[in-house]
Amino acid sequence: MKEWTIGELLKETKDYLVKKGISEPRLSSELLLADILKMKRLDLYLKFDRKVTQDELDRYRDFIKRRIKGEPVQYIIGKTEFFGLSFHIDRSVLIPRPESEFLVEKAIDYFKKRDGGIIIDIGTGSGVIGISVAYYSPNVKAVLSDISEDAIRVASLNAEKLLEVGDRFMVNKGDLFEGIEEKGDIITANLPYLNREQIDNLQKEVRSEPISALYGGEDGLDLIKRLIDEAEERMNEGGELILEFDEAGKEGLEIFLKNKGLEYTLYKDYNNLYRYCIIEY
Ligand SMILES: C[S@@+](CC[C@H](N)C(=O)[O-])C[C@H]1O[C@@H](n2cnc3c(N)ncnc32)[C@H](O)[C@@H]1O
Repeated sequence: MKEWTIGELLKETKDYLVKKGISEPRLSSELLLADILKMKRLDLYLKFDRKVTQDELDRYRDFIKRRIKGEPVQYIIGKTEFFGLSFHIDRSVLIPRPESEFLVEKAIDYFKKRDGGIIIDIGTGSGVIGISVAYYSPNVKAVLSDISEDAIRVASLNAEKLLEVGDRFMVNKGDLFEGIEEKGDIITANLPYLNREQIDNLQKEVRSEPISALYGGEDGLDLIKRLIDEAEERMNEGGELILEFDEAGKEGLEIFLKNKGLEYTLYKDYNNLYRYCIIEY
């Protein structure tokens, strides 16, 4: 039987994934192999001549089969990177997107000028936004809330690992603010915001993510509008609500905010699309 080195295996796998039309073929093959070999991805390059054992090869082949069926790498290996931290994830939560790091940056900037406080992260999913803010901001407690029981389980695991058990975080299961007693200095929310048409046109890979994490009603703004309505009472004075939305909902969102007389600023993402809204209280 042929013995494979890391270098040979990566090349062969990449070519195979290209033929099968899989996105990011080289990156996929590297991340999956690095996970099997318990190495950092870039360390593979230092060990190109290392032989892969039969057991490692069998497990790698299983991973590749799942990748070819369209399963995202992050679900296969059960983890993802966000804001320089490693988070556990599974199929019950959305795969965090790098775009959402903007919310974390803005929240960290806010707390830099203050001595601690509370961040409430609504629709927390795996907890990435709230946990990252608390991780990098001394004396900040994260309240992590989601309507999904599974998301709360995943967020708890991540919070226990990164913030340690104690008074740095609490988790809550509920519809938006339901069940939360604390008021927030910062409220972050990356709630489902895709509209009906966008959901109908989702790419195959995104379809493996939970639809309840993506669909925001006919115009994509159902939950965001409800959240804005409720946020004022849940916010300490001088606080900020930091939201992610989709550019398709920009006009509807602005009409809603203006009607309510709220002070807000919209920001674009690195694709030059409006994606973020900060409301000051
Ligand atoms: C787009 S995902 C974002 C997850 C995470 N914040 C992130 O950025 O990776 C939206 C999350 O909102 C949650 N959600 C949906 N409806 C909700 C509601 N009414 N109240 C609270 N959370 C909700 C979903 O369960 C899902 O975890």
